[in-house]
Amino acid sequence: MSDTETRPLRFAPHLERLPPSAIREICRLVAQPDLRSLAGGWPDPAVFPTDDVRRILDEDLPRHGHQALQYGVTEGLIELREILAREAAREGLRLTVDHLMLTHGSQQAMDLTAAAFLDPGDVAIVGCPTYMGGTGAFATVGAEVVGVPVDAEGIDPDALHRRLRTLAARRRPARVVYVIPNFQNPDGSVLPLERRRALVELADRYGFVILEDDPYGALRYDGAPLPSLAALDTAGRVILARSFSKTISPGLRMAWVAAAPPVIRQLGVIKQYRDSCSGNLAQQVVLGFFRRGLFEPYLERLRVHYRAKRDRMLEALDRHFPRTARWNRATGGFFVWITLPDDLDGEALLQEALRRKVAFVPGRPFHCDGSGRNTIRLSFSQSDDASIDAAVADLGAALRDLAARPRPSLAPVPGTKPKTRTAAKRGPRRAAGPARKPKTRPGRKPAGRRR
Ligand SMILES: Cc1ncc(COP(=O)(O)O)c(C=O)c1O
Repeated sequence: MSDTETRPLRFAPHLERLPPSAIREICRLVAQPDLRSLAGGWPDPAVFPTDDVRRILDEDLPRHGHQALQYGVTEGLIELREILAREAAREGLRLTVDHLMLTHGSQQAMDLTAAAFLDPGDVAIVGCPTYMGGTGAFATVGAEVVGVPVDAEGIDPDALHRRLRTLAARRRPARVVYVIPNFQNPDGSVLPLERRRALVELADRYGFVILEDDPYGALRYDGAPLPSLAALDTAGRVILARSFSKTISPGLRMAWVAAAPPVIRQLGVIKQYRDSCSGNLAQQVVLGFFRRGLFEPYLERLRVHYRAKRDRMLEALDRHFPRTARWNRATGGFFVWITLPDDLDGEALLQEALRRKVAFVPGRPFHCDGSGRNTIRLSFSQSDDASIDAAVADLGAALRDLAARPRPSLAPVPGTKPKTRTAAKRGPRRAAGPARKPKTRPGRKPAGRRR
């Protein structure tokens, strides 16, 4: 082992662009027993379907154990893929088993997409901000990750178009664009129908692939669902990834990817060399849910459960947060995204909050260009009502304390900018979701307040 002291290990140079995930780092802190965490976007273990899983295993293992405990085909159990194709038809997605592959979490769908479409130095475009799992998957294969502004309605197609034109003029065409159209992690934005159409048209015109990552779409608390980009795509350029991590359980590591059959074939060949196949036991559990008709009623229970938590957090923010901050309404998913006044730093607020035993995720790591220092992400998914109230109250107090303190201006810190670029400065945010009823408070102009 001491060899490395004299001859240092050489990691692939492009991995220098790969920062450790800020969420994972903070989740390490969260292990402290007395810390109240609004950090991780993990599902609430209180609603894990433990009894259903036990029943499925008890009943199905004796009959299907020979298959469940064996290697399986790379694409996944055919019966499960048939069911997923039938389910997808209900939302206008025309799929056969050849359009579908089970993956080890949707993180694997991102990794496979990166491996299939990106060479080192190729350009992948992500929203700014976006989930760092996507950014990281592209960075691990040595792609250049370019950010495009996201506003309250998700990725901005006009800014994307401008960026695509510039890249094409420099003979650096974008190969992959990563989009989370429903309740994006971290900012909860939902891409409207016109933007979905615009993105699909741009993909066709500029010849890139859209990776549509949709782990939260089933957890909608307000409004009606919108068609997926995959349902709008006629050119076979969209790869849709859906996950059971935020619904049944992330411990199963079960997700699926839908794409044109040649794309699935290519992803399948790569998967063969990555992990041979997804776990058959976990697939049997998911299959057991669908065979018994348990999935849809369970989803309905989850929506009720998380909607109540979302409401609790919004009420607590209204009560305890200063009016200088603004936040989204979170019409689905797990997150409330808060924009602090320009001169406040989310990372400084985290230090202040940790002293009060509250954790959250600062917004900057979700921005591939190092911007977003005055943003933070709160998750309401795991905390109970009392903890949400207390943690938000303490965070509000931490914010007031920080705001009252003299502080340096938020100029970029030299040397901290990652080697990724953004297309343009982020445009102004508008409140996500339906407009909130303005509050009448003396001396305030509610119309100008944005969340
Ligand atoms: C937007 C987004 N995509 C993908 C994932 C990873 O999901 P999975 O557990 O299916 O790999 C997450 C998890 O937090 C996420 O927020």
